[in-house]
Amino acid sequence: MPPDASPGAADAGRGCRRLVGRSALLTAAARGLGLASALRLAAEGARVWITDRDEAALAAAAGQAERLGLTLRTLAMDSSDPHDVAARLREAIAAAGAFDVLVNNAGGSLHTPYRFADQSDGDWQRVLELNLMGAVWASRAVLPSMVARGYGRIVNFGSKAGRFGSLIAGANYAAAKGAIASLTRQMAMEYGPHGITVNCICPGVVMTERTRGLWAERRSAEERARVLQDIPLRRHGEVEDVAAAVAFFASDDASFVTGATLDLNGGQAMA
Ligand SMILES: NC(=O)c1ccc[n+]([C@@H]2O[C@H](COP(=O)([O-])OP(=O)(O)OC[C@H]3O[C@@H](n4cnc5c(N)ncnc54)[C@H](O)[C@@H]3O)[C@@H](O)[C@H]2O)c1
Repeated sequence: MPPDASPGAADAGRGCRRLVGRSALLTAAARGLGLASALRLAAEGARVWITDRDEAALAAAAGQAERLGLTLRTLAMDSSDPHDVAARLREAIAAAGAFDVLVNNAGGSLHTPYRFADQSDGDWQRVLELNLMGAVWASRAVLPSMVARGYGRIVNFGSKAGRFGSLIAGANYAAAKGAIASLTRQMAMEYGPHGITVNCICPGVVMTERTRGLWAERRSAEERARVLQDIPLRRHGEVEDVAAAVAFFASDDASFVTGATLDLNGGQAMA
């Protein structure tokens, strides 16, 4: 299956070289928003590593980067397995040195049921492990070397679901994404004195392969049309919109921003 980050994600970053000399690690980033963000960070000059559990998708992502004149280094890793995260990231840090930027992109509703009453404990556990604990485990692995150098940028992936509810993902996902925003603020307080910023981006629906399927399956054509009409900017997000926000938080343009949650939803929900 081809990755669904368009070349535009990297093009958007060309000419903007805010990350030269920086190294970045993005989790579960062989497709979708993670891949688009990885291409953008690479286009801005960063040395970029992406992890994913799908090795074929990792190879395809690296190939896509190469065709764009960029390099993505790949690392097979299961973000929902604490032992794998700890071991793989220990190896990566030994090989690459400390990472300046960590993007906790791993997440998703894992096609668990939409209705609260239909969600099992297993559905809750799998979604909380990938979305919340995946970020905890990756941060735990990367933070000591950031602290040692007195510099770091952590970008967590929340969601509109965690702030305003979701039309396609259920309570387990909304709760996990809400927790990510709280985790972001607490970590920002704790690690600010070490020169580390921690921020959270909260996209509304962005039409990746995965969400396109859910959107068509869980909302009627009429509902989908109505939702679009209710978005002030009259469109869904593109992966490039998300990649641009990740690049901002990863860069020194955001050096005085920490603990923030940024809504990226075309004005669909505002706070
Ligand atoms: N797409 C959206 O509309 C949207 C909106 C808001 C937030 N988000 C968040 O953005 C992030 C990326 O979403 P996306 O839509 O780009 O995802 P995606 O489903 O398109 O891609 C996810 C990638 O994660 C990998 N993956 C899944 N489980 C894994 C695991 N256990 N270990 C390692 N890799 C794993 C998959 O192989 C895939 O390459 C997620 O945190 C998601 O919750 C997405």
